[in-house]
Amino acid sequence: KMRKKIVAGNWKMNMNLQDGVALAKEINETLKADKPNCGVIICTPFIHLASVAQVLDQNVVALGAENCADKEKGAYTGEVSAEMVKSTGAQYVILGHSERRQYYHETAEILKDKVQLALKNGLKVIFCCGETLEEREANKQNEVVKAELDGSVFNLSAEEWKNIVLAYEPIWAIGTGKTATADQAEEMLAYIRSIVADKYGKEAADDTTILYGGSCKPGNAPELFAKPDIDGGLIGGASLKAADFKGIIDAW
Ligand code: G3H
Repeated sequence: KMRKKIVAGNWKMNMNLQDGVALAKEINETLKADKPNCGVIICTPFIHLASVAQVLDQNVVALGAENCADKEKGAYTGEVSAEMVKSTGAQYVILGHSERRQYYHETAEILKDKVQLALKNGLKVIFCCGETLEEREANKQNEVVKAELDGSVFNLSAEEWKNIVLAYEPIWAIGTGKTATADQAEEMLAYIRSIVADKYGKEAADDTTILYGGSCKPGNAPELFAKPDIDGGLIGGASLKAADFKGIIDAW
């Protein structure tokens, strides 16, 4: 695969500041000693960003946030803007995660605004999509994923698109221990690549990094990463232990 391969961790709401900094240090040291064959990103809660930025060599492990606000700045108590995220040294932001859509009611429209602000402030976006179990059982996964992309990122210019990484995460596979089979994941990622090609052309689609996420572990990563359209993983639970995270990175 010529395009960029990535393993990205998403810590979610885990780790206090001290434990998070210690984990980031451990990952950084481990990967500096044994250089990865792929891009590695860790996405942390906001409170970790500035401290973690101090301990990472971002040529080896890049830093990202898990969210950002849909407003530029101002009286939005408790929110953190894309500009603030960028100012910590972070380079990426995860947007459109199903947990944000489900529990915090983030709509395609809100996500579209967040994507715009993130790009405008020089962040790269890891944009997530994926269907529920019910939608898959009704065989609606393709239309659900297409609608999510149509609604929030397919409005971008070809130039902006270069800063987008996609992540397909079937909701029924997140944190459930139930991974999509490598064939199921490949089928969807190939579909996603085909609709990216419809929108931005074959060359751009071939250059787009598309990740799989959902119960990805050292044990199943090799089979997933061997598929032609799977360019890496977005890792939740297994990104919280340096050894597990490294085990997945070593699948490349
Ligand atoms: O963003 C990461 C995904 O939601 C996957 O989480 O690896 O714990 O299933 P998981």
